[in-house]
Amino acid sequence: MKIVIVGSGYVGLVTGACFSEVGIDVCCVDIDRTKIDNLNKGIIPIYEPGLEDMITRNMKKGRLSFTTDIASALVDAEVLFISVGTPPDEDGSADLKYVLAVARDCGKYINDYLLVVTKSTVPVGTSQKVKKALQEELDKRNVSIAFDVASNPEFLKEGAAIDDFLKPDRIVVGLESERAEDLMKSLYKPFTLNGHPVIFMDIISAEMTKYAANSMLATKISFINDIANLCEIVGADINKVRKGIGSDSRIGNKFIYPGIGYGGSCFPKDVKALIQTGSEHNYDLRVLKAVEAVNDDQKLVLFHKIMNYFNGEVQGKTIALWGLSFKPQTDDMREAPSLYIVKKLLEAGAIVKAYDPIAINEAKHHFGDSISYCDDQYETLIDADCLAILTEWPEFKFPNFKIVQKLLNTAVIFDGRNIYDKKEMKDSGFEYFCIGVDT
Ligand code: NAD
Ligand code: UGA
Repeated sequence: MKIVIVGSGYVGLVTGACFSEVGIDVCCVDIDRTKIDNLNKGIIPIYEPGLEDMITRNMKKGRLSFTTDIASALVDAEVLFISVGTPPDEDGSADLKYVLAVARDCGKYINDYLLVVTKSTVPVGTSQKVKKALQEELDKRNVSIAFDVASNPEFLKEGAAIDDFLKPDRIVVGLESERAEDLMKSLYKPFTLNGHPVIFMDIISAEMTKYAANSMLATKISFINDIANLCEIVGADINKVRKGIGSDSRIGNKFIYPGIGYGGSCFPKDVKALIQTGSEHNYDLRVLKAVEAVNDDQKLVLFHKIMNYFNGEVQGKTIALWGLSFKPQTDDMREAPSLYIVKKLLEAGAIVKAYDPIAINEAKHHFGDSISYCDDQYETLIDADCLAILTEWPEFKFPNFKIVQKLLNTAVIFDGRNIYDKKEMKDSGFEYFCIGVDT
């Protein structure tokens, strides 16, 4: 079977690589010529563990190719996945212009049956808009060609994307024809052999499932952050409370880690988009509005702790930062808490020295030369007045604390990810501030 993936970003590349890995003939399309030229030279535009090897291997086998030309990609293809971006519009709703541009391209160039599957995260009703846009183009050509639309939201996490795609908890497919169901069944068969189910449903429910899933996860995070803040006030320890509640299987121990708020390209935009969908239908999603408000505040919790420590005066103080990406194992900085914290520190007159194992190049696009970048985590500490940890990269978990202490002007650590033990830190002579633990 030959398939086409349109949009060669995080989702498109992982989807294309993983389908080709199981033997399917995949052509990935993007409008960004530089990206496609680089991919054809084996240069992968993002950092995602395992992706580069998988892409190179499948390109060599001739099962994975890259082009900017959607018309040629469509020749002999039976299924096309739309995996372009759906960024927030001014009012928070998902901007569908990229999705609908792909739908129109399909209508312009197909000559045979095609199943058009939306993998991008899109609001309810989008598949019908895709269908309409495609049909309008066919009408302009005055041709009658059969096609189907389907919704197949993606649940992969950056940093673990390959594993999530190859071994998904579930695959959700919304569709409206038997032909589409047969195609999707055979396409996903290699990924379901070890028991992971494909859940078939109607298209609107599939579209809603994606937003409900991300919003539920974001809710868990804002909930635990709210409780963490209260723990600090009443003298409880969120690390213990987290274990205490997470061991109840009805609650579960995942996605209840307190921190400096959720970031990334999806939770913030998807929560906003679902609130907007509610308001378009005159329904006030009160829980999600609170989730968003808590998260906005949480992104600055560490900044306020730093300000409190220095009695509101960080002018001229040097702050060492470990971690800039929105989470470990990615260079993605979209909506990263670091963006908000660095901005506030700079506005307050602080000097920022930062290290991230992977995201430095990406960070330079955001901060330019307003901060300094270090090649090594210890280098940030030279002449620094404190250390703040913003991303829980594994290499930050067991640093040489003696060196940390020696290099810092004052042995004080602000840990936005709770990666150290408060008692151990105090015993080693550090002043240690983390999230949700009274200090
Ligand atoms: P991205 O920004 O990394 O990639 C999108 C790509 O689409 C870009 O390379 C862009 O050049 C290309 N593009 C735009 N218009 C095009 C067109 N008309 N023809 C061809 N290519 C075009 O985006 P992403 O992070 O991969 O996200 C894509 C979608 O998947 C979004 O809706 C997102 O919400 C969803 N999603 C993302 C993730 C994630 O972890 N990043 C996970 C699940 C779902
Ligand atoms: C998230 C979802 O987990 C994926 O299922 C979904 O497909 C994806 O969004 C998407 O739609 O794009 P991702 O954004 O890559 O994946 O990363 P997560 O691991 O979910 O982390 C998101 C944010 O939440 C990060 O800033 C992370 O630090 C934060 N987080 C996560 C917490 O603060 N606490 C937790 O317990 C878990």
